[in-house]
Amino acid sequence: MAHLQQDPCVSSAGYRLGEAGAEHRALLAEQMLGIVSHDLRNPLLAIRMAAGILARRAQEPRTTQLLAQIIQSTQRAERLAADLQDFCQVRGGRGLAILPVPGDFQQAVASCLDELRLSFANVTLRHVRLGEGRVAFDHDRLCQLIGNLVGNAVAYGHPGAPVTVTAHIGVASASVSVHNLGMPITHAHISELFEPMVRGYSQNVALRSVGLGLFIVRQIARAHHGEVTVHSSWRAGTTFSVVFPRNCS
Ligand SMILES: Nc1ncnc2c1ncn2[C@@H]1O[C@H](COP(=O)(O)OP(=O)(O)OP(=O)(O)O)[C@@H](O)[C@H]1O
Ligand SMILES: [Mg+2]
Repeated sequence: MAHLQQDPCVSSAGYRLGEAGAEHRALLAEQMLGIVSHDLRNPLLAIRMAAGILARRAQEPRTTQLLAQIIQSTQRAERLAADLQDFCQVRGGRGLAILPVPGDFQQAVASCLDELRLSFANVTLRHVRLGEGRVAFDHDRLCQLIGNLVGNAVAYGHPGAPVTVTAHIGVASASVSVHNLGMPITHAHISELFEPMVRGYSQNVALRSVGLGLFIVRQIARAHHGEVTVHSSWRAGTTFSVVFPRNCS
């Protein structure tokens, strides 16, 4: 009987030890992920730059095509490495680093969309401007946020339908929303969308990675003291909106 009473203590201590070991291993794995994703960025950049140089000198159409493929795949790998690095930074409790600088918000959105049109050449990307003026924001992070939302709109929206990016500047706040038509997101799915590694179903695997896009969008919004919301229905389509104060610093 005494022996029987001892057993739960032994197994619960053993369980606690196992739990601590698992936590330690998870921490190590996360640190390793952070280091590898960081260190991968330089070689990937080197591959993309070298392919770009070769592409400018290429004579044969087949060589040009293959180099374009290398550049596209490398950009995708770079985005994945950057997403993983951001994920590790947030998990490490450091939050996303941003450098908000007052600037022309509409102009910044326009230049992000110009860049995205190169990646999504077959998609009509519209820019609706509501209001003008200066807003404090981190330019690179704004482009990353819009890129993630536009990438999703293209991947999960109705194929061939336009994607509309609306930038609004109000008296005290600024916002950017991305709209697409297509199959709506279910109510049950909406509550967990912004958690890391949450992914739905899509046939277009080429445009997807690990389910970090919306997690990072929310972190960028919060770093600007803002928030992201989503509305989705068959009739109205899907709109992700990020609202943040005009002067977030
Ligand atoms: N505009 C959208 N319309 C319909 N579903 C969407 C839309 N945007 C996101 N989703 C759903 O939310 C899920 C999570 O999106 P998220 O961007 O976080 O990850 P992902 O696109 O799967 O991968 P990653 O962005 O890391 O490449 C998607 O897998 C998809 O199911
Ligand atoms: Mg995504």
